[in-house]
Amino acid sequence: MRRILLKNIQQNMKLARAIYSEEGRVILNKGITLTQEYIKRLAALGISEIYIEDAISYDIEIHDIIHEQTRNEAKVIIKSIMENCRKGIMYNLDHVKNIVNNILDELLDNKDILINLSDIKTMDDYTFSHSVNVCVLSVITGINLGLNQLKIRDLGVGALLHDVGKTLIHPEILNKPSKLSEDEFEEIKKHTVLGYELLKKNIHISETSAYIALAHHERYNGSGYPSCIEGGRIHLFARIVAIADVYDALTSDRVYRKKICVHEVVEHIMALGKQHFDTDIIQSFILNIAIYPEGTGVLLSNGCRGLVVKVMRHFPTRPVVRILYDSSGNSIQEDEQINLTEVLNITIKNTCEI
Ligand SMILES: [Fe+2]
Repeated sequence: MRRILLKNIQQNMKLARAIYSEEGRVILNKGITLTQEYIKRLAALGISEIYIEDAISYDIEIHDIIHEQTRNEAKVIIKSIMENCRKGIMYNLDHVKNIVNNILDELLDNKDILINLSDIKTMDDYTFSHSVNVCVLSVITGINLGLNQLKIRDLGVGALLHDVGKTLIHPEILNKPSKLSEDEFEEIKKHTVLGYELLKKNIHISETSAYIALAHHERYNGSGYPSCIEGGRIHLFARIVAIADVYDALTSDRVYRKKICVHEVVEHIMALGKQHFDTDIIQSFILNIAIYPEGTGVLLSNGCRGLVVKVMRHFPTRPVVRILYDSSGNSIQEDEQINLTEVLNITIKNTCEI
């Protein structure tokens, strides 16, 4: 299996992962042969990448860190909570707690898998998928930081609901495809306070969970919002969610910009490190990220291009690569693999389409 840009899809390629609607229903089933009609449908959904299975990737397995079913259930619940919040209807926090428990259990079971958030987001379900990813990334960071399970559950609930205040922001501003005016940005900023107030109405939510909604845009140097607080004065949970939020947003396609590759986003977060984030948390965060996930096309320093076949837990930048093209661009027929933990004079220069 490998991930491929929709624009490079050819008819008769085989879909390797099902595509789901925001309600968690299957739109296109795994294993179907893609026709021009299906490709058009995917484009209309705002999907720019899909997973396919072909001769060069048949043996590459890509594991999501949580089950598809858990991800879909979480998306459906966060969607219904956000709809209820918009209408002023109180939601049942037990559903959120159950989902966070499931996510935590699965992450504890999969401790050795590097995170490849391999979900395909449609334009409509971005907010819900993003909320689930921020929850997964925050919980795994909490595990790495050695937090106890009680704290991790509170962290997970707050992370899942961190953007709930956006339900009270006008969709026209929220979904504006171009640059926001100063006034519009001021409006968007209100989702933090509004979210906190919304969550505080539910007596079953802890103060620390609700606080995440309020403070996830605060920055370590005090340049964030809404309160411009800095450093350790920002609660640990909000410092964790701040990194998870930025990471998932930058690695996703948005209406106003294309997604950025994982290795560039990790660089970006590390570069912003001292100013925006808590550097100790960054270290715990990146420990689990698959910088070059399985199925990614890569350009090597010797000019060859290939597909990442296997990622090793403690060597995220040195995977095993199947070489498909030599440095002159000629296709290589034999199965040639380079294990970059053994061949030290070759590095990955960049990701590329195959
Ligand atoms: Fe936010």
